[in-house]
Formats: sequence, structure tokens, C-alpha cells
Amino acid sequence: MRLLLAPMEGLLDDVLRATLTRPGGYDHAVSEFARVSGTLLPDRFFRRIAPELDCDSRTAAGTPVRVQLLGSDPQCMADNAARLARLRPAGIDLNFGCPAPTVNRHRGGAVLLDEPELLFRIARAVAAALPPELPLSAKMRLGVRDPARAAECAQALADGGARLLVVHARTKLDGYRPPAHWEWVARVADAVAVPVVANGEVWTAADWTRCRAVSGVADVMLGRGAVADPFLARRIRAGRLAPPAAEERDAEWCALLPLLGEFRDRVRRKVEARHAPGRIKQWLHLLARNYPGAQRLFAEIRGLRTLDEVDRALALHGVPAGTPNPPARAPGAWDRVDDDALLESAA
Ligand SMILES: Cc1cc2nc3c(=O)[nH]c(=O)nc-3n(C[C@H](O)[C@H](O)[C@H](O)COP(=O)(O)O)c2cc1C
Repeated sequence: MRLLLAPMEGLLDDVLRATLTRPGGYDHAVSEFARVSGTLLPDRFFRRIAPELDCDSRTAAGTPVRVQLLGSDPQCMADNAARLARLRPAGIDLNFGCPAPTVNRHRGGAVLLDEPELLFRIARAVAAALPPELPLSAKMRLGVRDPARAAECAQALADGGARLLVVHARTKLDGYRPPAHWEWVARVADAVAVPVVANGEVWTAADWTRCRAVSGVADVMLGRGAVADPFLARRIRAGRLAPPAAEERDAEWCALLPLLGEFRDRVRRKVEARHAPGRIKQWLHLLARNYPGAQRLFAEIRGLRTLDEVDRALALHGVPAGTPNPPARAPGAWDRVDDDALLESAA
């Protein structure tokens, strides 16, 4: 069974991918989307979205990262995919799930689910432009307004050459409103011969179990649940499916503190100082769903404006201090951190 880490524009960038893949458990991650619209994107554009491309297309912990493309012109998508392929990504993923009005207005993302024939042409053009060994996957919702054409869309993508389909079990109209309709993933999986991955509303190991039972598929992609619970994939892999007891949560929180410190340091390196507190608050806000320690910390920093103020609060809560301007690390340097010690303390 596979566990995948979802693409999430504006939330799960290379910085958070590096952090969330450290505890382990993911087979691959998918980058945020690169929007393809009429031009051939320069290499630096792909590298900005997926800096992992410079590190064998892996996160520092070694998890492969596929790069996602979003667009509607088959030839332009193919040309850009061929250009991206030269950077040797771990795979290319096509986005047919984005519900954002600006994206949809330009005929990108979920709105194309009304045009299965176009999905086929995009997948076929991209597949033909790629070396055969480079995995091509696609991520779709169930439809625009209703799921009536979900199986047809999946067939179009598979016939076109997508070798793995991730199905976010909601329509564009559903947005992110619960529930996710996992039973529709089963219908899609019945219609195609390629592996289908279920996605949507998996926050806990119990959700994962139910999602697999209802959808009938073995593989699951985790999105917000992975951000809110960085040990979720690892716990699932270890077969620890019961909700963690309070002591286990506390131990996990202790193991998260160095990860938070690393995250803060990476954020400091990557984003402008005025945006850095927002990034830290954003992650803590989701962590607060599961960790009382995160709730307390979030309550303390939510009104703070500067990174120095946030840093002082983090230090008081046990987050290890970083260096004010940490040097850029050589690719793979994070691998040398003693993961086993970190994770044993969380188990
Ligand atoms: C903030 C945010 C950004 C997202 N960005 C992308 C994206 O760039 N590409 C994509 O295919 N899906 C994107 N998604 C959808 C997620 O990958 C996932 O399908 C969705 O969140 C449902 O899974 P979940 O309930 O486990 O979070 C995004 C979702 C969120 C919440």
C-alpha cells in the first residue's frame, strides 16, 4: 500500500515538504502546480516550485517529489513537460482538481473535468513527450458539479497515458466541504486498469482505514491531515491505528519541537522576514488540531508581528534556537540528522 503526500499550493512548499517527510512514511510527494499558459517555462521556474529538482528530485529525507503541471493546451503542456523532464523529476503529475476561480477562468484545473476528450488529448500529448521511464500521474476531482462523468474522465486520462490516478473525492462545486465521497473512488477504480489513489478528508488513522474500506483502493494521499499530524503516515505504516493516547501525543510534541526549529530556519532562509511569522502560524494552526502544546504556542504567537518576537516565544516553548542567518546547506545534509532517535522518542 502506498501513502502519498498531497500538493498544496500556498501551504505545502519545499520547506514544509522537507519537514513533513522527515518522520518518514511517504512513497512520494507532489509539488504545488506550475501553471502552463502559452509559453515555455524556464528551468528556474520549475526549480523555484520544486527546488528538490537540484537534489535528485528528493526531499532532504529522500522522499521522491513529482512536479505538477496545470494547463489546458495539449501541445503547450507537452512542450513544458519535455522541458521539465530534462531536469529529471521523480515524475510529472497533471492537475485536474484545482477549483480556484482565477485558474478555472483560464481553463485550468477542475473545470476541464467537463471535457474528458480534452483530458485524453492532454495526457496523450504529455505522455508522448516524456521518456517512457518517467512516471506520469494525474490528479482529478469527481467532476465539476456532479460525479456523473468521473469514470469517463479517469478512463480518458488512463487511455491518454497517465499511469496513476489520484482522485480527490469531491467535485469542484464541493470545494473542501466534508464529506469526501470515497464511494465514488471505488467506481472510478472499477473503470480503469491503472492504480487509483484515494484522497480527501483523511485526518486520522481511523479515517485512513475507513477510506480504504469504502473506496476499495489500497493507496491513499494525505493532504491537510499530514500537515496537522506529521506522524500520521508513520503511525499508519507501523500499524498503530488507534488514536494516540495523551502521553503519546505529548511525546510526539516533544519530537516535533526540533522539527519546528528546522522549519523556522528554512522559512527564514526562504521567505521575506515579514512573511515568515505567517508561515509559522499557518503550520501551528493546523498542528493545534492535534497537539495541546501547539494550541498554547499558537495562542501566544498569533498576535506577534516579527520573527524575533516569534523566535523568543518558540524558545520559551522548547523549540531549539537556530542561527540568525543559517548558511545554505549542501543537498542531503539533513539526512545526517539522527532520525531514529527523533522518532523513537515519538513512538
Ligand atoms: C491550501 C491548499 C492548496 C492546494 N493546492 C493544490 C495543488 O497545488 N494541486 C493539487 O492537485 N491539489 C491541491 N490541493 C488539494 C489537495 O492536494 C487535496 O486534494 C485536498 O486538500 C483534499 O485532501 P485532504 O482532505 O487530505 O486535505 C490543495 C488543497 C489545499 C487545502
